[in-house]
Amino acid sequence: MAMGMSVLTTICVVLSLILGVSATPGTATFYTNYVPSACYRNQNNGVMIAAASDPLWANGAICGKMYNVTCTGPTNPVPHPCTGNSVIVKIVDHCPGCGGTLDLSREAFATIANPVAGIIKIDYH
Ligand SMILES: *[C@@H]1O[C@H](CO)[C@@H](O)[C@H](O)[C@H]1NC(C)=O
Repeated sequence: MAMGMSVLTTICVVLSLILGVSATPGTATFYTNYVPSACYRNQNNGVMIAAASDPLWANGAICGKMYNVTCTGPTNPVPHPCTGNSVIVKIVDHCPGCGGTLDLSREAFATIANPVAGIIKIDYH
């Protein structure tokens, strides 16, 4: 029994190591009003930016992190929203209660998907 548990623990550790370096699935929406932001107040950080949802926000510890975001598919009836591109964004804001994992700038969203879709499935790392 103890033996079985430690094998299980090892498998979990190895799995989380693998997942740690690979992409995490989520969903993304977009927004258009970039300044002021929760991380940088009135400082302009360009347009390749994103806001973190509550589960990622961690009291602002995520501020300044860069994510490579790829569109993986639709979440609604808009067919084939993905452009096939990926985009690197910097976390500059917090979106409390937003509809997805990441709230991308409209420019970042438009790089990876058709904005008409509104919300898409993503992988990010
Ligand atoms: C972002 O991720 C995608 C898919 O994982 C990869 O093809 C692309 O090269 C990455 N871009 C950068 C700049 O790391």
